[in-house]
Parts: sequence; C-alpha cells; structure tokens
Amino acid sequence: MTRLRWSTPLLLDCGVAEMDFGTSQAITDALSASVARAEFGYTSTVLERAVKTATARYLATHAGAIVDPDRIELLDSVLDAVGMYVELTSAPGDTVVVFTPTYKHLFGIPAAMNRYVVELPMQVGNQPLWERALTLLRWYLIQGCRNVIACHPGNPTGHPIPHVMLRELIACVAEFGATVFVDEAHAPLMAPGHSPLISAVSASEYAPQVAWVARTATKGWNISGLKCAQVIVPETSRANVCRRLSQLARRSPIGRLGAIATCAAYTDAPDWPTQVMSQVTPLKKRVTALFETGGPVTAVAGQATYFLWLEENRPCRDHLRLFDKLLKRGVLTEDGSIFGRGFDHSVRVNVASSEQVIERLCLALTDVLHDKHEH
Ligand SMILES: Cc1ncc(COP(=O)(O)O)c(C=O)c1O
Repeated sequence: MTRLRWSTPLLLDCGVAEMDFGTSQAITDALSASVARAEFGYTSTVLERAVKTATARYLATHAGAIVDPDRIELLDSVLDAVGMYVELTSAPGDTVVVFTPTYKHLFGIPAAMNRYVVELPMQVGNQPLWERALTLLRWYLIQGCRNVIACHPGNPTGHPIPHVMLRELIACVAEFGATVFVDEAHAPLMAPGHSPLISAVSASEYAPQVAWVARTATKGWNISGLKCAQVIVPETSRANVCRRLSQLARRSPIGRLGAIATCAAYTDAPDWPTQVMSQVTPLKKRVTALFETGGPVTAVAGQATYFLWLEENRPCRDHLRLFDKLLKRGVLTEDGSIFGRGFDHSVRVNVASSEQVIERLCLALTDVLHDKHEH
C-alpha cells in the first residue's frame, strides 16, 4: 500500500504515529462480519470476557507472561489507564517520576492532574542512562515519591527497557511501597530475530503487587481508531479500579468494534506485527545507514516499533533546529521537544511506509547532513 493519509505534493508527513500498511486481513474480516450483522450496540460481558481471555493467551504466547484474565481490566485507551493510575494512586501535589524521552501524554496527563512531574532521561543518543536514572529514582523514592511511569519499549526510541533494569525498577518501587505504570503499547512490534519483549507483568516477582501494565492492539495492528486498552492492575488496586469503573457509569468501558478487532488481532493474527517489522527493519537500516558515527546527527533505532529518533549533536551552531531543517525540505517530523525537556534538537520519524516515501525522506536527510553552514 502506498501512502494514502500523510503526503501532499509539498509535504511528506513522517510525524504521524500510524503505519501505511493497513491492518491484518483477520481484523478486516472480523469487522466486516460484525458490520454485516449490524452489531453496533454496547459490548456484552461475553465479549469483554473474550477480550480478556484473548489478551491473556497472547501474553502467554508472545510476552512470556502468565496472567489470570480476571486480573485484566478494559478501558477505552491506554491514556485513560494513565489517568486512572494517577487518580487512584496519588494526590494533587504529589511527585510522579517519568522516564524520558517519551510519549508526551505520559507526563502531560499527570501534569494536567496537578502532580509534580520529574523527568528522568534514560537515554542520550545511543548511550543508555538507565543506571543513572535508577539511582535518581531511588533518591526520589527516599524523598517520598510513590509514582513512576515508564514506556516499554520506548516511543520514540524503540528500545525496550533492558530486562535487568526493568527487574531492578520494579524491585526498587516495591521496596518503597510505591507503584509503577508501564505502557507497553508498542510491545508487539518487535523486529524479527529478537526474542519477544518480556512484559513488565512477568519481569519481577514484585510485579503483581506494584505494576500497572497497559497493553493495546491499536499500535501493533495499526487500528488506533478502534479503542480498547487492556490493563493488568496490581492486586492491591483492583477493588479501587472496579469501583472507579462502575462510578464512571458507562454502559461499557470499551467500544464493540475495538473489542472485536482486539480479539481478532490477538487470536487470529498474533504474528502480524512481526511480519510488519520484517518490512520496517530494512527501511530503518536504510535510513540509519546515512548517519556516520561522530557526524552531526545520531540515529537511534531500537529493535521495536517503526520510529527512528534522530538527535542533532552540535545544535548550538545553527539557528535552525533539525525539525526546521527537515521542514524546509518538505518533511514534517514529530518535534523532539514534545517528548520531554532537553530534546529540542531531536525529531521522531515514522518509517512505516513505501520505498518511494523512504527515498524522499533519505534525500531530505542527506541534504541536511551535507549542508554544514545552514542558518
Ligand atoms: C506509547 C503509547 N502509548 C499509548 C498510545 C495510545 O494508546 P491508545 O491507542 O490506547 O489510545 C500511543 C499512541 O501513539 C503510544 O505511542
């Protein structure tokens, strides 16, 4: 499929967070059948149960995690789950630690709820800063912070949190009686040849007590409009979550088509994201090959998802930022500044598209890399 949504003759939109590869046939078939039966009502408890069972089975086969379906709660979106986590486990004025660079809503939501957000960088260029981030986290926990939010794998970097670090993070949080929210929205999108990403659900023996883990098929199967998030909630928070869900007084926490698509994704097309990643990985390699070590821009290309994170190394010499330089050449990216403090000279680029689009992107990047005296 060539790019339908993003491009105009003047502007190539590489900022959007959706792929240009449609979705799996299994999802299209399940949705078509449901539409043909005019199933536009609320979800039933049977359907909700089916989503939970499909999620648990997928986690067992593709994330090394054994989860009782009864521990899975359904919400409209991962972002609703972030809001509920913040609401139920903290109070206005509390501190929430968020690892950056990350998806803007992971710090935007707690900030909008009057929590004090501390951003801890976990990576600069290709240098991981996990040990430093965990040392700083421990300090904040000692000071009384009880809330942590992490993205695994990272949007925008595509790097999973290394397993030992994830274990240590969860153990550290447990030691202080705190909790951690782990956003695993991009977890299904692992490049082939890598072992599946280990979910935070099973990364540590303390996870069932302290980790809120959010999953969704929206990113992996490219169905962002079909809302249906699955959240594995710690034992200690379950009663509160159930109470809050019933207080919301909605007939159903999720939409029917989102539920149907999610069941089809996990049950009938569990390997679709890996197949997509076998198309995306060569495209990532093709773009990263443009960047030399020690050059003006570093390309960060984690094993997961369809993003590249580009960091300008000597930004102060230029008046224009990397975002502006690419925009001047007809390429729209996602500005690094929205991923946290200190990332103004980075951009996130989506490479899940056609060869022609990647060719156009490569031409613009080559032009930027060779134009040394740009102002
Ligand atoms: C890291 C991350 N979490 C969550 C979401 C959105 O989740 P949902 O589809 O449930 O709204 C996105 C969407 O881009 C994302 O990148």
